Parts: sequence; C-alpha cells; structure tokens
Amino acid sequence: MKALLLAGGFGTRMRPLTERLPKPMAPVGNRPWLEHLIAGLKEQGIREFVIAVKHYPERITEYFGDGRKWGVSIRYAQEPVPLGTAGAIKNAEKWLDGRFVAINADVVHHADIRALAAEHERTGALVTIGLVEVADPSQFGVVEQTEDGRIVRFVEKPPREEAPSNRINAGIYIMEPEVLKKIPSGREVSIERETFPQLIAEGCRVQGVPIGGYWMDMGTSERYRRIHWDLLDGKLELELREKERGGGIRIGEGTEIAQGAMLVPPVLVGSRVKIGERAVVGPYAVIGDDCVIGRGAKITHSILWDRCTAAEAAQLNRCIVGSGLKIGSRHLLHEAVVNVIPEAETI
Ligand code: GTP
Repeated sequence: MKALLLAGGFGTRMRPLTERLPKPMAPVGNRPWLEHLIAGLKEQGIREFVIAVKHYPERITEYFGDGRKWGVSIRYAQEPVPLGTAGAIKNAEKWLDGRFVAINADVVHHADIRALAAEHERTGALVTIGLVEVADPSQFGVVEQTEDGRIVRFVEKPPREEAPSNRINAGIYIMEPEVLKKIPSGREVSIERETFPQLIAEGCRVQGVPIGGYWMDMGTSERYRRIHWDLLDGKLELELREKERGGGIRIGEGTEIAQGAMLVPPVLVGSRVKIGERAVVGPYAVIGDDCVIGRGAKITHSILWDRCTAAEAAQLNRCIVGSGLKIGSRHLLHEAVVNVIPEAETI
C-alpha cells in the first residue's frame, strides 16, 4: 500500500515558524516531524510515498530527495495553486494505482495503519477514517456513527453539549482509488467539508475506526509546544538520536557542557551544542544541534531549533526560537515565538 502525505498547507496558525517552512518539516525532538512519520510508516511496511507539496516545496524535496537514504521511494505531487486537502490528493492521482493511505503530515501520532487497513478490508468501505477521542470536541469536526461504525454525519465545531460524540477525524484515511474519480480537478476541494459529506450523501460506505495511542494535531504553536512536553514526559515515544544519560537528560554527540552549568530534567540537548558556565537549561527545554548557550543564560520551557545562540545571561521562558536566531546578551524573552529569514533569502 502506498502512502500519500499531505504537506502543502501554509501553516498560517503556526506562523512565524512556518513562514518559509512546511509545517510537517518543523522539528520534533530535533528532527523534522515528516522524517519521524516516514520512518514510522516504513516500520509498518510502507515503502512507497507520494508527498503532496505546495508551500516552500524545496524544503521537503531537497531534504528527502528520492527517499533512498531512508530506504523508501518518494515521489512528489506539486500543485500549481493550493488545491486543498482533497484537491491535493486528486493532483497525485497518476501515482495512486491501488488502495492507499492518505495522511495529514502535520499530525503527530502512532496510528497502527495495518489495523486500520484490516478493518477497511473487513467492512468493504470506500473510505475508512481514523478517529480519535478528545475530551472537548467543540474545536473539531465530530462524527456521528451507526452501531457498526459507519459514519452518517459530520458536525463541524459543535457546542460541547450538542456534539453527537467525542470522536473526531484524525486526518488518516484508507482509501479506494475510486474516490479519486469523485474529486473534481483544477480547483480547491476540502476533503472534510466537501468530499466526505458528498460520499455520505451518495450512500457510499465511509467507515470510522478509532486509532489507539498518541495523537496531536500540530496546528498552533501552543500544540507544537505540548507535543514537545509530551515527548520529554515519555507520553510520545520517538526514536531520538540523543542518548539518554539517566534521570530525564538526553544529550547528543559532541556537546560540551562547561563546569557549573546545570541541566534540569526533563531536557533534550542536540549534538555539538556548547553550554557555558553557570547556564541553566531546563526543565522542559529542547536545544537543537549546534546551538550556543552563553554563560549564565537560562532556558526554561522552551524549544530552540538548530544553530541558535542565547548569549550571556539571556533568559528564555516558554519560547520557540527558529533556526539560526541569535538572542542577545541579557535579553529576556517570555512566551515569544521568534523566527528569522535565512541570510541567503534576504537579498
Ligand atoms: P493552517 O493554515 O494553520 O490551517 O494550516 P494548514 O493549512 O497547513 O494545515 P491544515 O491543518 O489545515 O491541513 C492539514 C494537512 O493538510 C497539513 O499537513 C497541510 O500541510 C495539508 N494541506 C492543507 N491544505 C493543503 C493544500 O492545499 N495542498 C496540500 N498539498 N496540502 C495541504
């Protein structure tokens, strides 16, 4: 079975981090989430990928190439204009010859795709939608199902008391190729708002199956932060390059920590990082590769992407800092999300 990964959205709610980066390329535990996703799907036996790209496509195509380095094959379907979640699938039609799984590439999860596909096969559905249970469904598209799991209605963002269930669309779909014929080409089409309701209205079998395990839609900077705290707390399990040094401290290779500096767990520090005297890193800090944390700097509840500098005595609390950014000496940042346009692009 091939996987179609939707990675072309503008990520407007996660700006400025996604200003020049597709949201699925945002690092989770110091590696692009998309890389974790592809590696996880490969473990489940998926070897052929199509990535639907649009916003800064080269950030994805140049990173993954043909996928050989990851032991998979990757093709790209690039849209001339944004086509929406169903339009992007339609645009990849020429690569999709059989049953496939379509996944919102910005959703961090551990879904068992094989179990979902087995249930799809058993029910003979045209589409099987992975579902996730949430405590408060009022911010999501909620499904109403029959007893045998067939979806009969979608309700967009219902008031809590009027929600027909607490099950929402997880952004993971097993699809028969016939669905592609039902999506119009050449215009923007939303799978949630247009294609699925249309299939239900036509009487097609659209099945809903709960997926187990971790699930979090990256969506906003706040949710992006939550994903990291879940990773540090062990609620989200991912393969990390950094070695566990015991007591909730992970450190990458070549990192130098000056005497008197303090790592407060849980904390994740990448490779080749330099941490100066009396600096305090953590709790809840994720430091990217090649960062420099100056003398006496303090980084708490924050995520720094790679090549950042927090100069002497800088303090960052509840911040997210984009790649290559320098925070000046004695600068204090609280709840800031900051990014910088790479030098090569400013001319
Ligand atoms: P917001 O602008 O903040 O809503 O983010 P988004 O549009 O990037 O993400 P959204 O949650 O709406 O979309 C879910 C997934 O579908 C994400 O992985 C997006 O990258 C992807 N996606 C959304 N719209 C498009 C599109 O027009 N084309 C492609 N190829 N992918 C899309």
